[in-house]
Amino acid sequence: MKLLCGITLFLSIAVAYYIYIPLPGQISEPWKLMVLDATFRGVVWMGDVAHSVGLSHSVRVINFAVVSFESVVPATYNEIWVEDTLFDGVHVRIYHPPGKKEGHLRRAVVFIHGGGWSLGAPKLGSYDSLCGQMSADLDAVVVTVDYRMAPDVHFPVQYEDCVQAAKHFLKPETLAQYLVDPERVAVCGDSAGGNLAAAVAQRIGIDNSISVKFKLQVLIYPVLQALDFNTASYQQNQNVPILYRKLMARFWLEYLGADPDLIHSILINNHTAQDQNHMSLNRSKLDWTTLLPKRMIKHYKPVIPVTGSSNILKDVPALLDARAAPLLADEEVLRMAPRAYVLTGEHDVLRDDGIMYARRLELAGVPVTNDHYEDGFHGCVSFAFWPCFFSVGIRAVQNYIAWLEENL
Ligand SMILES: *[C@@H]1O[C@H](CO)[C@@H](O)[C@H](O)[C@H]1NC(C)=O
Ligand SMILES: *[C@@H]1O[C@H](CO)[C@@H](O)[C@H](O)[C@H]1NC(C)=O
Repeated sequence: MKLLCGITLFLSIAVAYYIYIPLPGQISEPWKLMVLDATFRGVVWMGDVAHSVGLSHSVRVINFAVVSFESVVPATYNEIWVEDTLFDGVHVRIYHPPGKKEGHLRRAVVFIHGGGWSLGAPKLGSYDSLCGQMSADLDAVVVTVDYRMAPDVHFPVQYEDCVQAAKHFLKPETLAQYLVDPERVAVCGDSAGGNLAAAVAQRIGIDNSISVKFKLQVLIYPVLQALDFNTASYQQNQNVPILYRKLMARFWLEYLGADPDLIHSILINNHTAQDQNHMSLNRSKLDWTTLLPKRMIKHYKPVIPVTGSSNILKDVPALLDARAAPLLADEEVLRMAPRAYVLTGEHDVLRDDGIMYARRLELAGVPVTNDHYEDGFHGCVSFAFWPCFFSVGIRAVQNYIAWLEENL
């Protein structure tokens, strides 16, 4: 009996120790987040183990867990008619709201899901529910893009899939087929999907061969650059779940098809050290000491080593490619981009990617609404659905949909 009590006590302490992580005071529902994070950390750990013994690529293991979880989560919409089809060879799902009226054209949203360009199941669970909710609340046609992902494909395939699907949808004949108003189409994405949405919006904006343009872009905690892993928010939130700084750097290297061992160099900004005078490295585009408000910079200092690991920018040219890192676009490109809504969370390593992009769009003359959540953490929008509810997730979803309702 004593032994059993002892074991139980030991296991309880071990579990509590595993789950507990110190979190910032204002973060939304810290205990829930710790449990969510412990689960996610466990999955990532299993992926790493499977990878290191040569069983499977770690990303496949993590995605298997994500897909398994999402497949048991029921969709929360009804009355929406769902259609799976191909847009110019790219898999998409279309959500049609009920009640077609003769001659009435609807609004539309092209949605691009997140998951580090390598994870996520747009037709299942939370993303399915989110798209169904957008379609119902906005009485809009929603197209979710099931683009191909890493490790099967790398940049620029994810980007090209999304561009192709968007271009196909924006064709006047496609819009007519789905009874969509060409003046009222938005592009929207979260996290890596926000990266792709921003990149697609830039591409469509400058392409003179496309007559119908997006009216709006909605970027939910987007990831926008890989040249500085020591922005104020990367420093402040490096250990805040669920998107740790190291994990984000891993996702980047996987997306760009680069050597995973480069992680040690890029985390300390060796790739953008002072001696890396690459022609197209323009630091002012991501100079957070000028692009961020003082209250966000706080006491954090830029990390620019004097000497770095040479050749990373040459070996991985996509690091400097605005199609991969939309924050690096020239002002002339930004000027052609649609009006923007940028959602950011204080406790997110990507906070400054979003804030800097919002600022650069503004400087280029594009109207921007920035909704900043003081209790927000990365991924919260995916946790507005059964069984994982976070109050900040529910508010964030309501607010961005309300913004679309008003402006689309
Ligand atoms: C660097 O970027 C800034 C901000 O977009 C721009 O004003 C400047 O002209 C750029 N410099 C070069 C050399 O391209
Ligand atoms: C960063 O660059 C310096 C200078 O070249 C080098 O000594 C150091 O080993 C590099 N660090 C990493 C982690 O690559």
